[in-house]
Amino acid sequence: MRERMPTVVSTDVVCLGESMVTFLPSQAGRLADVPSFERAIGGAESNVACALAGSGHSVRWVSRVGADGFGDHLVETIAARGVDIGFVGRDPRRPTGIYFRTEGERPTTLDATGDSGGAAEVVYYRAGSAASAMSPQTVDLGTVDDADVLHVTGITAALSEECLELMRVLTGPRPDRPLVSFDVNYRVGLWDRAEADAAPGPGVLLELARGCDVVFAGEDEAAAAWGVTGGPESLRERLPEPAVLVVKQGGEGATAFVRGDEGGDGEAADTVHFEPALRIDVAGAVGAGDGFAAGFLSATLRGLPLAERLRHGHLTAAAALTVPGDLAEPPSREVADRLVALDDEDWRALHLGPGWNTGKADPS
Ligand SMILES: Nc1ncnc2c1ncn2[C@@H]1O[C@H](COP(=O)(O)OP(=O)(O)O)[C@@H](O)[C@H]1O
Ligand SMILES: [Mg+2]
Repeated sequence: MRERMPTVVSTDVVCLGESMVTFLPSQAGRLADVPSFERAIGGAESNVACALAGSGHSVRWVSRVGADGFGDHLVETIAARGVDIGFVGRDPRRPTGIYFRTEGERPTTLDATGDSGGAAEVVYYRAGSAASAMSPQTVDLGTVDDADVLHVTGITAALSEECLELMRVLTGPRPDRPLVSFDVNYRVGLWDRAEADAAPGPGVLLELARGCDVVFAGEDEAAAAWGVTGGPESLRERLPEPAVLVVKQGGEGATAFVRGDEGGDGEAADTVHFEPALRIDVAGAVGAGDGFAAGFLSATLRGLPLAERLRHGHLTAAAALTVPGDLAEPPSREVADRLVALDDEDWRALHLGPGWNTGKADPS
């Protein structure tokens, strides 16, 4: 049943996807040994929404949460970041998803430098969540299409059959569709389960990406999800349809392919640009990709040239990388524009650490 919604007012960006309440450990160690957790929130699409709102754009987060306290907390926290939450559905029968995690550092895998190669343990309680019931029936297309940009990610496609159906509609052709932005966000754990259920595997992400206008993919995730190795050019060969393809190459940089006739018949040659990433004292890697997407989309909305779109991506990623959590405050437009305008040599010499984006420490 379609829910009654307030009147839609046009917005710059709509981000659609599941967010969850997350519980961060009070101390390092095995999940089995952590005695207490601190509450925070997580969700790729709401991270992008919050970063874009922080960069001065009007943003709506479209999702579903349970009619429970965790749903209240998500909606209140995201609204406090300046995001419109007026079209978040409340499901009285399904709970809000939650997850628990450990710190990345597992003492069993310490190497000589004291760094850990060990991944954090993460346990999700999201199966059957309110957001997993997002579908073309429960999400009003009128609330997602009245924007300049619609941003979605591959996570949604893995949540349920209904969510995949919704993703097919959102990334498919329809009249007056906004610019559709898609971050692949391949999460191996979500797709393992899908394979066990004989549901579509991660190849469906490539199919969905073909229908989008702007696609963000990590070089590593393209290899893991689709077996595409051989660098950004190989991925572009496999994915020629999107007018803009951004291949993220971690701490190295990012390569963007923009079709000469952006929005045309797909025959024109690409413009290709590589922009090096920044040197960063990483405080927490979670949320970097979301920051990158937000920075790139913000610059796209402002009509900035390709090289600057990539630099804004790197800078908003840097904001996420230099805070422990994943909800970073993006740099002010004035700071970001000043750094983006640096010549190549000064850009490469930038070294950002905690506090650079909030004016508490000067970039050096
Ligand atoms: N080690 C690093 N040093 C500098 N920048 C980085 C580093 N790792 C990631 N980034 C920045 O974050 C962006 C997103 O990184 P990525 O690994 O794709 O994130 P995610 O895994 O969250 O999708 C990169 O394009 C780059 O701008
Ligand atoms: Mg990602």
